[in-house]
Amino acid sequence: MKKLSLFIFASAFLFHATVGFAQEKEKEQYIDAARKILIETNNTAILFAPDQDNRLQQIYYGSKEKTPSDLQHLGEAYTSGGSDFYYTPALRVVHSDGNTSTLLKLEKSESKKVDDNLTVTKIYLKDDYYPFYVTLVFKAYQKENVIAQSVLITNKEDKMVTVYNFASSSLSFKKDKYYLTQFHGEWADEMNMVEEELRPGIKIIDSKLGVRAHEMRNPSFLLAIGAPAKEDSGEVIGATFAWSGSFSFSFEIDEKGRLYALSGMNPFAAQRLVAPGESFELPEMLTIYSNNGTGSMSRDFQMWGRKYGMRGGFQEHTILLNNWEATFFDFDEQKLISLFKGAKELGFELFLLDDGWFGTKYPRNNDHTSLGDWDVNPKKLPNGIKALTDAADNIGIDFGIWVEPEMTNPKSELYEKHPDWVIAQKHRPLHFRRNQLNLDLSNPEVAEFSFQVVDKILTQNPDIKFIKWDANRFVTNGGSFYLKPEFQSHLIYDYHQALYKLMQKVVDRHPNVRMMLCSGGGGRVDYKSLSYFTEYWPSDNTDPLKRVYIQWGYSQFFPAIATAGHVTHWGARPIKFCFDVAMSVRMGMDRDLAKLSKEELEFSKNAIIEYKRIRPIVQFGTQYRLVSPYENPHSATMYVNDNKSKAVVFLYQVKDVDFGEKTIALKGLDSGKKYSVREINRWPDATGNTTMNIGTFSGKQLMEGALNSSLNKQLTSSVFELTAE
Ligand code: DGJ
Repeated sequence: MKKLSLFIFASAFLFHATVGFAQEKEKEQYIDAARKILIETNNTAILFAPDQDNRLQQIYYGSKEKTPSDLQHLGEAYTSGGSDFYYTPALRVVHSDGNTSTLLKLEKSESKKVDDNLTVTKIYLKDDYYPFYVTLVFKAYQKENVIAQSVLITNKEDKMVTVYNFASSSLSFKKDKYYLTQFHGEWADEMNMVEEELRPGIKIIDSKLGVRAHEMRNPSFLLAIGAPAKEDSGEVIGATFAWSGSFSFSFEIDEKGRLYALSGMNPFAAQRLVAPGESFELPEMLTIYSNNGTGSMSRDFQMWGRKYGMRGGFQEHTILLNNWEATFFDFDEQKLISLFKGAKELGFELFLLDDGWFGTKYPRNNDHTSLGDWDVNPKKLPNGIKALTDAADNIGIDFGIWVEPEMTNPKSELYEKHPDWVIAQKHRPLHFRRNQLNLDLSNPEVAEFSFQVVDKILTQNPDIKFIKWDANRFVTNGGSFYLKPEFQSHLIYDYHQALYKLMQKVVDRHPNVRMMLCSGGGGRVDYKSLSYFTEYWPSDNTDPLKRVYIQWGYSQFFPAIATAGHVTHWGARPIKFCFDVAMSVRMGMDRDLAKLSKEELEFSKNAIIEYKRIRPIVQFGTQYRLVSPYENPHSATMYVNDNKSKAVVFLYQVKDVDFGEKTIALKGLDSGKKYSVREINRWPDATGNTTMNIGTFSGKQLMEGALNSSLNKQLTSSVFELTAE
């Protein structure tokens, strides 16, 4: 009897299990193909379609040419927690009645062609029971193959809901192997590229730093499929998050090898309460799929960035002289004027006055005081900023100035007046970084103050042509004296909404002022902030040897025209190497010209002349990365102009390994054209000559490796200029 019931029980279990799994399998494969939703660019397609329960499935993400006919589910398009999905969900909500589950069904979708290049598709999802809505928004930029994904969450329930997880992008893959590259680092050591194979389980790369949130990791990744990422072949997805606050990217591989990639704001301590009738808008994740490796992906991102992700992407950027590394806080009017006097003769077009020009009660003579007190220090600058802009005007260069409008020092008049304007936790000791505190921009009064800081400087000094906007600390003790207790978790999101509004107001009021996005180096480099700026400061580390790697990293997503590279004394490297590295991006200098030797001055003057000639190729051309410094003792990169009549090649020796005569295969040239090749920016020979003719070659020969490098020592470099005959 006992045996029989065991047999019946076992059979029933097997039957149920088999049918259950079979049902799961059948459900997994069903697609309502008639209701397919296609998002496409010139090279890429993403396909969605509902299953038999009207739940939206992701069907395909990849090359447009290879869109398969046998469509399969990759996974639910926007997974939600609390019901039948048992991995990390894109969305997790507690509804107004305490229900912890969300079940999204497809309502409808619509596509609108905004112009020849941009199509916006909106997919409307609604909870099966609650009046709770999720709209997936996809902006497809045809030519640049960028798909920008964001999400709008709307509560039409009669009470508040709380959103705990909120990915901007949710993508699923079913492939054999995945390789993730992250861009990690710290202050003065940004954008180190580290690639690893993803294994079953979850890998998270994130930032919880709140503000200046990219100090330890840029919000970007590469996901190579099948094999590690390569420059010119293989499937790779490049993604960069247009958001300056904390972020989280998670990569979870399930037991069947399926990968769920979720990207968005970091949900850590950031749950959002959404009131009835309110919406919660998530930032954009920008993705490019490439089946030709990272090179074409980067070229697409760089062009997209110039068109949509920055200001002034099609205007030549000026060569600037900055006083920071030349003087730090130790300057006065005379010293500054003497600094930029020689600048014009050398060819500089802009002088940038950095930190230290402000503070009366507490003069800013070091980084312990004065942030918040934006009146000119009368001891250093008795005749105000005007004396400086006039002097710059007289010698014929533009003048720019440094500000840090989101911060204060406890030793400042601002903090004395408004101790409750800072981000801090009640009943906890203040915690400093660089001796300063973040201002709480979630408080509209504070945000208005920060706007006034910048607006006043620019309005009172209409001759200022450029500002460097700095932000030198991230958030610890993340509390707001302004937000109500139940809304404390809104701080970082509200801060950034206010920050972007204030940046936009500055741009609206002062549309001709060029602006550098800086955050103690690369603490804030993303396409949302950059959209208000004309360039960014990649790192405080200006050692050109390190910059070869840093610039290589940023070039994955950002264009050379937006990337500031300065010749400085950092690392005490040969000045030629410094210039050759800076010339491959937007060039500038942070040196006291009076301290340069006669030879260095001559060399600098010539290098600036050379840069002005090649500037349109570097700033407006197409970049081809040739030799990675990560895998070789040398590194090479090149730019080609639009009609392939001009190109410039930069070659750097980064390790002390003699690799003898090496051929460098160029890219992107017209194989049928003949190019004369000249090495430029050489240390002058006995006759003062700084160029050397290398010869004339066809584009084909050059792309097959006709150009040789004879570099054999670390810190040596060559620049080649190619001109079609
Ligand atoms: C950090 C920036 O990255 C530097 O270039 C400089 O502006 C300092 N701040 C000034 O405090």
